[in-house]
Amino acid sequence: MKSASFFRAVKSFHKRHILSTDQFSPLDLEVILKVAEAMEFYMQTHRVPPILKSNIVSTLFFEPSTRTRLSFETAMFRLGGQVVTVEQGNSTSAEKGESLRDMGRIISNYADVIVMRHPHVHSVQELASTATVPVINAGDGSNEHPTQAFQDLYTIYHAQKRLETISIALVGDLKYGRTIHSLLRLLVQYPIKIYLAAHPELHMTSEQVAQYSNHHAEVQQIDTDELKALVPDLDVLYMTRIQKERFVDPTLYEKVHTSFILTKALLEKAKDTLSILHPLPKVKEIAIELDDDPRATYFRQAKNGIYVRMALLALSLGRVDETLLEVVS
Ligand code: NCD
Repeated sequence: MKSASFFRAVKSFHKRHILSTDQFSPLDLEVILKVAEAMEFYMQTHRVPPILKSNIVSTLFFEPSTRTRLSFETAMFRLGGQVVTVEQGNSTSAEKGESLRDMGRIISNYADVIVMRHPHVHSVQELASTATVPVINAGDGSNEHPTQAFQDLYTIYHAQKRLETISIALVGDLKYGRTIHSLLRLLVQYPIKIYLAAHPELHMTSEQVAQYSNHHAEVQQIDTDELKALVPDLDVLYMTRIQKERFVDPTLYEKVHTSFILTKALLEKAKDTLSILHPLPKVKEIAIELDDDPRATYFRQAKNGIYVRMALLALSLGRVDETLLEVVS
């Protein structure tokens, strides 16, 4: 039996934009994890209720995507809803100079919820400022990617059976990696140990670090060279791709993109229960030999994207009630 405050938190998602993970409290996160767990149950038992029948999502993508767009669209179809999509933003009137503010107003007439990805920081917020339906940020430049972070949290919770007292290293492109920026905002809400491990050129700027100062976690910045010694303590190793498309100086990318590669040898002293995560796509940062290692959790993590996005769509559209959650304790 869930509490009245839990259901108040469920209701608070209705019509709310999802732009940054900063918007969500630990209770909100509990709601997302619970609803996603129910969705996983319905998917596994082939009993998904068509609660979004008569709803339409518009997916607007101005940047490449495989997992995020397809999992949002699949999530919508699974729940009985429909999809109108823009796969390449340059095929829209944006190419003719239409502003995101006008676009937000217009697309709100067609769809009940909008999912958007764009290369510019805060662009999704701009579209949301005039939209009259909920807008979900599927990545705004190097800033944030909140739905990926919820998927990551769900994966960590299910792999490690807890969110407290874990030790996690976030590795790779901490400066431009939007999945890291969104996930870190969630992780600092828990009493855990976080290592931010990067090449010196890829650490967050001091302004970025300052955004994460008010928290319960213990956060430490280290160089990737120091990571090997810490591996035996880790519960989660979260790898990321070096974000080539965001580099101003291509020679710098060439210098750093293979500076850290995770191999089996590096994990020699790691726990058997270690979970290796990656938002994908991965390029060279994880040796292929690890794909079949029982600690590699990234393909499972990608699968969880469906359950989490089903949950987020149902919550934004106000279709989650007590009956839907009867299948989870
Ligand atoms: C990520 C992204 O787009 O930020 N991909 C994803 O949505 N899973 C990570 C990346 O591109 O490196």
